[in-house]
Amino acid sequence: MNDILTIADLKARAKRRVPKMFFDYADSGAYTEGTYRANEEDFQKVKLRQRVLVDMTNRSLESEMIGQKVSMPVALAPTGLTGMQHADGEMLAAQAAEEFGVPFTLSTMSICSIEDIASVTTKPFWFQLYVMQDRDFVINLIERAKAAKCSALVLTLDLQILGQRHKDIRNGLSAPPKFTPKHIWQMATRPLWCMQMLGTKRRSFGNIVGHAKSVTDLTSLSVWTSEQFDPQLSWRDVAWIKERWGGKLILKGILDEEDARMAVSTGADAMIVSNHGGRQLDGAPSSISMLPRIVDAVGGDIEVHLDGGIRSGQDVLKALCYGAKGTYIGRPFLYGLGAGGKAGVTRALEIIRKELDITMALCGERDVRNLSRRNLHQGN
Ligand SMILES: Cc1cc2nc3c(=O)[nH]c(=O)nc-3n(C[C@H](O)[C@H](O)[C@H](O)COP(=O)(O)O)c2cc1C
Repeated sequence: MNDILTIADLKARAKRRVPKMFFDYADSGAYTEGTYRANEEDFQKVKLRQRVLVDMTNRSLESEMIGQKVSMPVALAPTGLTGMQHADGEMLAAQAAEEFGVPFTLSTMSICSIEDIASVTTKPFWFQLYVMQDRDFVINLIERAKAAKCSALVLTLDLQILGQRHKDIRNGLSAPPKFTPKHIWQMATRPLWCMQMLGTKRRSFGNIVGHAKSVTDLTSLSVWTSEQFDPQLSWRDVAWIKERWGGKLILKGILDEEDARMAVSTGADAMIVSNHGGRQLDGAPSSISMLPRIVDAVGGDIEVHLDGGIRSGQDVLKALCYGAKGTYIGRPFLYGLGAGGKAGVTRALEIIRKELDITMALCGERDVRNLSRRNLHQGN
């Protein structure tokens, strides 16, 4: 891993190690992928204010997200099918995050189950909830997250219906993978991935199979998932979930000031400014471009977090300068996982930590909690 210096290096290595259909699943956005690209590109437009001859000793990246201590304000975002980037992927990523001192968020659509993660970690992790039409299943998921002592529920609001990602359709993506000649070829050319995958029994949706009514095999699972996302999900349901959960609640997928005010009125602990990594509404603005407006609208009333397009510690710093109290990385940790399992996730976090630390110093700051818009160049 010593020659891996950037998240782009991890991405290149993951591409060589992960079968095409799963690498593409991570590296894709909806339709034209315009919003996916904008998430990354718009960070480049934000310029930092360079300061000199300021004491740069004793720097600290420690902070808090929803009142929980973090070694830096960067959590792992919930991502579906993570156990297909690498065998037992969610368990490895959760362990890497725990050792690093940052939150890990498990997706509803994960391969490893809530109980799997609890069995390999010692500190609480976060659980992301998709609200399905089968409310008994949702209640059961919430109870399982409570039993696993998850310390926050991340409720995703921006996936009532699934955005179309062309690559997934062209690749015939499924979990576990199909065994057509094309899929067999994609896997056969990634022998290490295959060997590791043969060594685990976790190859399907661990939170769903055996828990949702009538889902016992692959065919019933794919029918169930395609029908289950709830197009009628409403703010009333948010109140219902908040009540049932009773713990820290984070609302994910806010990209509009009006929705941000609605989110505040629910009494949630935090919101994530997010467009789902450009995977849902293609044509929506980038997360970083919306962040200042949303912080101005509601930042005094609720903790605002951001995800989408973060590929470096500089990007994290820019989000913090605009007023985010926390950030999340999706693809950067997935690329790390594909490139080298747990060590790869750790490497992704190390890269971001070092970049954040040096960049903060060169901006003349010693404490990540003191970053503000005065650290950005005035032309922004
Ligand atoms: C492969 C992949 C799968 C994802 N699955 C989920 C999911 O199951 N639940 C969810 O709330 N968000 C999901 N997301 C969105 C991420 O939580 C996050 O918003 C996004 O990845 C942030 O952008 P970034 O990848 O540029 O960091 C997924 C993203 C990716 C890339």
